[in-house]
Amino acid sequence: MSIGVERHYGGTADLAGVVRGRLAAAGKDLERLSSADLAAVDEFHIRGRQATLELAGRMGLDRESHVLDLGSGLGGPARTLAEAHGCRVTGIDLTRSFCEAATAMSGWLGLSGRVRFVQGEATRPPFPPASFDAAMTIHVAMNIAAKDALYAAAMRALKPGRIFAVYDVLQGEGGPVVFPVPWAREPAISHLATPAQMRELLSGAGFEILEEIDSTEAGLAWFREKAAALAGTAPPPLGFQLFLGDDYARMTRNQVQNLAEKRIRTVAYVCRSSERR
Ligand SMILES: C[S@@+](CC[C@H](N)C(=O)[O-])C[C@H]1O[C@@H](n2cnc3c(N)ncnc32)[C@H](O)[C@@H]1O
Repeated sequence: MSIGVERHYGGTADLAGVVRGRLAAAGKDLERLSSADLAAVDEFHIRGRQATLELAGRMGLDRESHVLDLGSGLGGPARTLAEAHGCRVTGIDLTRSFCEAATAMSGWLGLSGRVRFVQGEATRPPFPPASFDAAMTIHVAMNIAAKDALYAAAMRALKPGRIFAVYDVLQGEGGPVVFPVPWAREPAISHLATPAQMRELLSGAGFEILEEIDSTEAGLAWFREKAAALAGTAPPPLGFQLFLGDDYARMTRNQVQNLAEKRIRTVAYVCRSSERR
């Protein structure tokens, strides 16, 4: 199953080189890149950087915090947290080419001292127990059938009484997902939980759910605003098509349909790890 996931995301060799080439061609000064220059490709989830900032604002972070990012992708969320809150972030992701690109892109922004990325399975992160002050996972569990193992891993990695922030795509009540979507071209690597199942899974792992935030309508509005802003303009230099390929346009149309028909929902959970183990 993991091989299918890595094949889905990891088809582009030297992704950082491709991104750099696109930025250079667009006339960007490569010596003075900011995280905003990368956000169109490295915040790989619905509502992008804004959603990351909102979640980070609920995590109680400061300069002393060390955060675990389960399924860190190209590292945009990790860098956003490090920039906005001065914390350290360690990301783990299955897709080797994403980890390599995340490491390179962090160097471009001068953030290598505060973020690092490890290639590996998020359900079995190779870190000592109770070693993180906070944890997050953004748009990852839809590729993971063993969600109980994922949330158990988050609990194990966290110190007692700390925040675990989850922002994921869930199965909605409007019917089956229309494929392809950005996380899967076919159902074999798509494993969506319903909101009720999520509550059970998180509670079952020992988390206290402090907040549940449904952003489905905001997600739909975000897609529509993006489409309106881009209408009639040249394609932007960066986008998820750099690694998802030409069918990304179809995936986007399907995302809008899936959200509009409530076949999917986007929901965030802010949880607290148990005080006792
Ligand atoms: C849609 S991307 C989201 C990336 C990142 N969280 C973000 O929001 O920008 C999903 C990521 O989950 C990773 N992933 C999926 N299954 C995983 C697993 N079992 N272990 C670690 N990473 C996984 C993929 O490699 C991919 O980078």
